[in-house]
Amino acid sequence: MLTLLKLLKDGRFHSGQALGAALGISRSAVWKQLQRLEADLNLSIHKVRGRGYQLAAPLELLEQAQLADSPYPVFIHESLDSTNAEAMRQIAAGMQSPFAVVAEQQSAGRGRRGRKWVSPFAENIYYSLVLRIEGGMRQLEGLSLIVGLAVLNTLRDFGGRSAGLKWPNDVLVGNKKIAGILLELLGDPADVCHVVVGIGINVNMIVASEVDQSWTSVRLESGCTINRNDLIVDLGRKLQGYLVRHESEGFAAIQAEWESNHLWQGRAVTLIAGAHTVDGVVIGVDQQGALRLGVAGQEKVFSGGELSLRLRHDS
Ligand code: ATP
Ligand code: BTN
Repeated sequence: MLTLLKLLKDGRFHSGQALGAALGISRSAVWKQLQRLEADLNLSIHKVRGRGYQLAAPLELLEQAQLADSPYPVFIHESLDSTNAEAMRQIAAGMQSPFAVVAEQQSAGRGRRGRKWVSPFAENIYYSLVLRIEGGMRQLEGLSLIVGLAVLNTLRDFGGRSAGLKWPNDVLVGNKKIAGILLELLGDPADVCHVVVGIGINVNMIVASEVDQSWTSVRLESGCTINRNDLIVDLGRKLQGYLVRHESEGFAAIQAEWESNHLWQGRAVTLIAGAHTVDGVVIGVDQQGALRLGVAGQEKVFSGGELSLRLRHDS
C-alpha cells in the first residue's frame, strides 16, 4: 500500500493503468488498494474519469535519505502502536543506544497516565529517542524539562515563535497544546538504565476532532506546510545540544533559561496530585527541575511524574 502512496505522493494525476503497470497488479487491484488508503489512512483521493487518481494534496513522507544528517540513527516505521513501545522492545532486544524511532502513525500513541495521544498518518511527528543513563539520578533530574526546551527551540526555528513551556512536560501556544513529552524508564534508575524520550509534535495537522482539549500545530501557527524530515533532523540536533550541556553541567545551568520560557511563571495555579489539590502561585523550578510554589505565604517544592498544573480562574 505504501508503494502506491509513494507513486501518488507528488499530488499529480496518475492513470489506473500506469499505477497497475508500476506495481505489477491489475487496475481493479489498484482500485482496491486506493480504497484501503482512503479508509485506513484517512486520505482523500480525487478520481477523475480520463485522468486517473490524484491525492487531494501532495504528501511528504518520512525518508531515510532526508534524515541522514540526524545526530542519532533514526528507524522509520509506517505504522506502530507507539514509538515509545517500539523503542522499549528494541532496548529489550539489545539495540545499541542512542537511537531514535519515528512512525508515520500510531494506533496507541500514549500520553501520561494512560492518556491517548492522537496520531494521524503523515501529519505530525511521533519520535522516541533512547538514551542509556549511567550517571544515576543526577542525569535524570530535569531531563523532561530540558527536552521541553529542545522541542521549543525546534518549533521556533519552524515558525512556532510564540510557543512556551508548561511545567512539567507540555509545549503550548497560549493555552493550546502543540507538543507533548513522555519519558519512560527501563531498568534501575539508581544504576544503569535506559530512558525513552517520547515526543509528539503537531506539525501539519489542521483538523483533529478526537483531541479533547485546545491544540494547535506548527502549520496552523506559521501558515506554512512543514517538511517533517527537516524538523526531525533539527530536533535531533537541539536534543543533542541540550543533553550534552545537561550531562556536563546538570539542570542547574539550564534552570534560568527554562524559567524564562515558562508560560505560567507568577501565575495562580492548582496543582493536581491524584485526589489531592494544592492552590498556589508559581515561583519557578529548583535546581533539580522540581516545581516551586508559593502556598499560603510559604514556599513548597513538588516533583514526580503524576503531577498536573491547571491555571486558577482567578489568576
Ligand atoms: P497535564 O500534562 O497537565 O497532566 P494534559 O491534559 O496535557 O495535562 P497529558 O497526559 O500531558 O495531559 O497529555 C495527554 C492529553 O493531550 C490527552 O488527554 C488529550 O487531551 C491531549 N492530546 C491528545 N493528542 C493530542 C495531540 N495530538 N495534540 C494535542 N493534544 C493532544
Ligand atoms: C503528553 O503530553 O502526555 C505526552 C504525549 C507524548 C506523545 C509522544 S508521540 C511519540 C511517543 N510515543 C508515544 O506513544 N507517546 C510519545
